[in-house]
Amino acid sequence: MAKKFYITTPIYYVNDVPHIGHAYTTIAADVIARYKRLMGFDVFFLTGTDEHGKKVERAAETQGEKPIQHADRMVERFRSLWKKLNISNNDFIRTTEQRHRAGAASIWNNILEKGDIYPGTYEDWYCTPCESYWPDKELINDKCPQCGRNVEKIKEESYFFRMSKYEKPLMKHIEKNPDFIMPASRRNEILSFIRQGLRDISISRTSFSWGIPVPDNPKHVIYVWFDALTNYLTGCGYTEDMDRFNKFWPADVHFIGKDILRFHAVYWPTFLLSAGLPLPKRVFAHGWWTVEGQKMSKSIGNVVDPNKVADEYGVDVLRYFLLREVPFGLDGDFSETAIKGRLTSDLANDLGNLVHRVMGLSERFLNSTTGLPQSTDSKGASLRETAEKSIAGIHKAMDEQAFQNALTALWELVSAANRYVAEREPWKLAKEKTSDRLSTVIYNSFEAIRLTALMLSPFMPETTEKIRSQIPFAIDGKTLEWGGLGHELAVKKSAPLFAKLEKEPIEIKGEKETKKDEGISIEEFRKIDLRIAEIIDAQNVKGSDKLIKLIVDTGNEKKQIVAGIGKSYTPPELIGKRIIIAANLKPALLMGIESQGMVLASGEPDKLSLIVPEKEAVPGSKVK
Ligand code: MSP
Repeated sequence: MAKKFYITTPIYYVNDVPHIGHAYTTIAADVIARYKRLMGFDVFFLTGTDEHGKKVERAAETQGEKPIQHADRMVERFRSLWKKLNISNNDFIRTTEQRHRAGAASIWNNILEKGDIYPGTYEDWYCTPCESYWPDKELINDKCPQCGRNVEKIKEESYFFRMSKYEKPLMKHIEKNPDFIMPASRRNEILSFIRQGLRDISISRTSFSWGIPVPDNPKHVIYVWFDALTNYLTGCGYTEDMDRFNKFWPADVHFIGKDILRFHAVYWPTFLLSAGLPLPKRVFAHGWWTVEGQKMSKSIGNVVDPNKVADEYGVDVLRYFLLREVPFGLDGDFSETAIKGRLTSDLANDLGNLVHRVMGLSERFLNSTTGLPQSTDSKGASLRETAEKSIAGIHKAMDEQAFQNALTALWELVSAANRYVAEREPWKLAKEKTSDRLSTVIYNSFEAIRLTALMLSPFMPETTEKIRSQIPFAIDGKTLEWGGLGHELAVKKSAPLFAKLEKEPIEIKGEKETKKDEGISIEEFRKIDLRIAEIIDAQNVKGSDKLIKLIVDTGNEKKQIVAGIGKSYTPPELIGKRIIIAANLKPALLMGIESQGMVLASGEPDKLSLIVPEKEAVPGSKVK
């Protein structure tokens, strides 16, 4: 029987629209869920929404809605975002659902029967944005120590949970299970908090009614954090489907943000200890994202909408960026410059280029097949070793939720494959008519791509599918061995994986389609700054048979242009030519080299003809 794996995200408050912080946890959890499925686990991946409490009640009021109307409307924002981001959750729990309300009440009763709930009066501070109680001495400058906002003095009848009783058992559990709270810095934080002594906590409210009624005393509603935490049980079947619950509980990992660690690493385990239920195996608290160096906040107006980022850069680019940019557990900074950098270098230049290039070689020299491993190849053997090492590194990193390390390990394989193609120079093997070696080199390159795509599939599912539409291989964790590709499969080249690559000169040239009857205006045409330029230097780009780095004189300045004309011209014959360039294109990176313009040429990729002025023309003159 397959081993089970249960992973959760926090359930998000419905008082606000989802932002990049919410997307972060959910994407991270999705990557683990997909990875575990790939490895043959029976995965249960749960997310959902936290819909009760004062904060949601207030938000609804401001909008002139009933709380449930508000929740019904807002929950769709989360659902549609998860769909857009390809989140593969198995269930979505809303705390207003009957299955949750019943389950939460049942946990309350278990704890009550244990003698761990008693009535009293709560008199101290409450922070509604954080939905948390604070004793006077913990306030900082009379504000909430967590979020810095105003707190309210409340005095109301309340039930209390005997958390103090579980101080020692919890401490023991944390000490015995070093991986229970991760990363280690967070574990230490919790240990020192517990060492100061655990107090009993208030777990019901009487001053409003938007919540789950306390069993047998509906004057009280269950404290929203007690209610919310039990979603991890009710979402996997407690109490409506105990078979499912027994199969999946305890959770293998709860993913949360660092701000809600105390609820998950102190309150939650003590509730479970009291209810006599096993504790989750791990609570992993990730860091927070700032935006261009600033805290994300509605008042600053810098809240990043993941929908927009996905529309602008692509879903997979967002998924990759968030997990590659910062180690899970540390804070990170979100900026468009950073995301563009990753897109250009790691994705377009490294991965996109590898796939496009090998597909091109196969099309040109092997009749669009994957080739055969026909001869021994020492560099091929070391590529294989790199692949094996990289895969082992990814497994280890994924077990520690170290996404950044996993992606770094994977990119070692991508770089090794790019180097392999550059060093083995299949185009030369083709000229030499060494078909065995050529076939072997292409086969090995495809094998490296296949293994990359397989290990990438949890992170970038759409990209993997794009690769699979070109190379037919199975998504199956059992085929993670070198050689699992099969022989001489037919492949089908399509567009580069990432939009950036389309900016490569050769792709744009003359091939850009406009809709037949639309046309562009003369103003639009004039936006392109076409000028005469003289080539003063030309050099082949290392590792590419198609790209030549040109230095051109445009009259008053020199520009560096990387042009895809290497199959039609050699560098010496280019020097001194006067050509036409598009001089105001945004700079782009091609194979890591900045290109500051584009040369005009026409013809098939290997029979290109540069467009040159028909009579004498001075560098810098405008082409009209
Ligand atoms: N409803 C509670 C969770 C209950 S779980 C039983 C809650 N909801 S929330 O919508 O306010 O926050 C959800 C998550 O978003 C938290 O894990 C929080 O850490 C995370 N983030 C909020 N802002 C964030 C960033 N700027 N960066 C990263 N994560 C952030 O808390």
